[in-house]
Amino acid sequence: MEKRAELYAGKAKSVYATDDADKLIIHYRNDTSAFDGEKVEQLERKGMVNNKFNAFIMGKLEAAGVETHQIALLSDDESLVKKLDMIPVECVVRNIAAGSIVRRLGVQEGMDLNPPTFEFFLKNDALHDPMVNDYHIRSFGWASEGEVAQMKALTFKVNEVLKKLFDDAGMLLVDYKLEFGRYQGRVILGDEFSPDGCRLWDKATRNKLDKDRFRQGLGGVVEAYEEVAHRLGVKLD
Ligand code: ADP
Ligand code: TMP
Ligand code: ASP
Repeated sequence: MEKRAELYAGKAKSVYATDDADKLIIHYRNDTSAFDGEKVEQLERKGMVNNKFNAFIMGKLEAAGVETHQIALLSDDESLVKKLDMIPVECVVRNIAAGSIVRRLGVQEGMDLNPPTFEFFLKNDALHDPMVNDYHIRSFGWASEGEVAQMKALTFKVNEVLKKLFDDAGMLLVDYKLEFGRYQGRVILGDEFSPDGCRLWDKATRNKLDKDRFRQGLGGVVEAYEEVAHRLGVKLD
């Protein structure tokens, strides 16, 4: 697989064309960003950990019948993926209240959410990723009614699979963000699942093991990601 021009440099990953028009190479960088790019730091090993962590999770999801863009790990910090026509919204499921929902609704952090909630956010850093609803997505033509339904169903299916995976390894999957795209007429999972885009708490202590350590300046960010990987049995070296 030949790596060609850089197509896009995001806050944490760079995307490259390949000699196959249907495939891309994603480079996981060490850049760590929060608050829509306001806070950015380089954290040693983060790109490698997230690349391998994501490949492991995408493999579990594929095995459970959720189609993903992941094709292969190419190196420590690069993966080969299917090129998707990305739908510009973020799908968030919350099992426990934390983060923006606590600020928005004045609810207690740590509250169990039964049933889990679902929210869409528009991917737009300049607007600080505002929350949008099904009608906004359809009215502005970001996705069709059928695609909206598929994104919701797939995001909940991912919850079933991953809640159990993390629970079995002594962690609570508090919430997470997924991005989907179109591929040969199907809606499939793209982007990344790693501690950069979810919240994970230790089951016994409720210690934070995700990017909130970076957002809140708690330190030990990559060490926490490595701890999560270790508990799941993700091979890092
Ligand atoms: P951001 O754009 O939010 O700063 P990243 O730094 O993670 O995010 O950049 C990765 C970009 O690649 C994102 O915009 C994401 O939507 C996009 N992307 C992820 N997977 C695919 C894919 N399979 N095909 C095309 N684009 C993708
Ligand atoms: P929030 O509490 O800030 O709304 O985020 C909910 C979850 O989604 C949390 O695990 C972080 C993740 N997320 C991202 O990774 N990127 C985003 O742009 C947003 C809005 C959320
Ligand atoms: N949206 C991601 C976060 O909240 C990345 C960023 O904000 O820069 O951490």
